[in-house]
Amino acid sequence: MHIILLGPPGSGKGTQAQKITSEYGFVQLCTGDMLRAACNSGSKIGLQLKKVMDDGKLVSDEIVIGIVQERIFQSDCDAGYMLDGFPRNIIQDEKLDAMLAGQNQQIDRVLLLSVNDEVVVRRIAGRRFHVASGRSYHVEFNPPEIEGKDDLTGELLIQRADDNEDVVKSRLKIYHEQTEPLVKYFEEKGILVTIDGLGSPDEIFSKIKLVLDQ
Ligand code: AP5
Repeated sequence: MHIILLGPPGSGKGTQAQKITSEYGFVQLCTGDMLRAACNSGSKIGLQLKKVMDDGKLVSDEIVIGIVQERIFQSDCDAGYMLDGFPRNIIQDEKLDAMLAGQNQQIDRVLLLSVNDEVVVRRIAGRRFHVASGRSYHVEFNPPEIEGKDDLTGELLIQRADDNEDVVKSRLKIYHEQTEPLVKYFEEKGILVTIDGLGSPDEIFSKIKLVLDQ
């Protein structure tokens, strides 16, 4: 199965992607993670990417499409994959369709996690990461056992540079202007399923399971 996880920043795409991977074995293809890995390479282009992402803007379509194209046809994706954070505008979706058509593939489902902007800001402001493992916490909703420290290693947790309130507002604005139009587009294609993103992560995952088990 080939799935797109759609939703505003902080809607829980990454949280649900991990649960879907554990239950169904689909590979999570998160363009944000791929781009952050490129930033950490220390290359000139990595530093340029970091500036764009820290400001909450979208990276160029050309770069993002290139990294998806390189990853999506690797053999581990044969068992199914979830695109998390891609496509983010109509151009990216058109390129994705063309890429998949060339391999006789298509997107089977788009899962839209629906949450309002107020919830987004609260979730993102409280999010903390363990850099080495990518484990994610929330100071209020999913706190670590010891404040500020990873449960498994005891190492310090960090806050993403684009997770402050001003940048979140800019990311939300871009989401509403550029990504939200995809909702209608996927609806017309008959592949969109909207999931209420409020409730505990397990409650939301139960709703996703109902869709994926159909
Ligand atoms: P990316 O990394 O994709 O960020 P995002 O889409 O903004 O999404 P987030 O990772 O912030 O949130 P999420 O929905 O995964 O929520 P999470 O599960 O962590 O992209 C970052 C940047 O990369 C972009 O701004 C752009 O610059 C660039 N980029 C990426 N893709 C691109 C593309 N296609 N084109 C161009 N540029 C691109 O949850 C959030 C918090 O809430 C966590 O703390 C979690 O514990 C908590 N939480 C989750 N679920 C619940 C719940 N049900 N109840 C309570 N708390 C919850």
